[in-house]
Amino acid sequence: MDISTLKEQLRNEAEQINNEIDLKNFASKYRGNNGIISKLFQELKNLKNKEEKKQKGKEINDLKQYFEELYTEKEKFLIEKIKQEELKNIDVTFPAYNIKKGKLHPLTQVMEEIKSIFLRMGFSIAEGPDIETDYYNFEALNFPIDHPARDMHDTFKIDDKNLLRTHTSPIQVRVMEKQKPPLKIIAPGRVFRRDAVDASHSPVFHQVEGFMVDKNIRFSDLKGVLDLFTKEIFGKDLKTRFRPSFFPFTEPSAEVDVQCVNCMGKGCPVCKQTGWLEILGAGMIHPNVFRAVKYDPEKWTGFAFGMGVERIAMLKYGIDDLRLFYENDLRFLDQF
Ligand code: PHE
Repeated sequence: MDISTLKEQLRNEAEQINNEIDLKNFASKYRGNNGIISKLFQELKNLKNKEEKKQKGKEINDLKQYFEELYTEKEKFLIEKIKQEELKNIDVTFPAYNIKKGKLHPLTQVMEEIKSIFLRMGFSIAEGPDIETDYYNFEALNFPIDHPARDMHDTFKIDDKNLLRTHTSPIQVRVMEKQKPPLKIIAPGRVFRRDAVDASHSPVFHQVEGFMVDKNIRFSDLKGVLDLFTKEIFGKDLKTRFRPSFFPFTEPSAEVDVQCVNCMGKGCPVCKQTGWLEILGAGMIHPNVFRAVKYDPEKWTGFAFGMGVERIAMLKYGIDDLRLFYENDLRFLDQF
């Protein structure tokens, strides 16, 4: 068979190729070891005439090249065809499955936000144990045994010496015992009080303690830090207000209010028409606390504050019932 007839045959056969098997057969018929093209090359050896040999060789090479072109073209065509067939069986307009990603609990998110605000102000993070001794929770914080201020903390006692910490303030003592000033610390954690559950009370809740000790730390430093903090956490230009209060471990002590996040201080049901919301307790660290950790109160001064994370979260998001945080209802949790 001459080359041009073979070429025509190649083209015709290529046109008939419809699947992978056809393509394989096509390849082995022409390109395989015993294929037609291989045979043609073998026969070429028998040709004596040099010119004729050269001419024939070129023609066979052309044929081979033509075969390869047809082959690649067909291969591409088949790949595309398979893809199209697969797509036919898939409904590409079908909505994707909603992959449920986990996320942080709103209290954890607020805790993280509080931490990051103070970290940016140069504070470091410290932690303490949930099970505390009477000494760290009360005595070293200037609550002597039988001091009436202990009544403010409805304490879960484990035995005469151990209890579930009622606040994060014991971490002040633990840190100061181990480190020398200057100190700039925040201490987040879980705290416990013997309170019945209602919309604003839970026997387990969270606090973030903060304190700073150095030479010449003044009340105005406390005001500056807390003022910046409230602006950051509520994302609004809210004023803070310091009211005189009492804590055994600070002197003077203050209750800190922030302008109502809901009405910006005008007066509304959230702030009971006062325009202010109480957000934390604070004060200058009492000299007796410094004495307990063997710091010289003549040399060092410092401030401390403690805030409830649930309370901050409720104000930030307008949540009116604290129990929502603990019910694990995804309809609630999904919103954060
Ligand atoms: N520990 C106090 C409380 O739980 C809050 C507080 C912390 C007050 C630090 C002053 C200084 O009520």
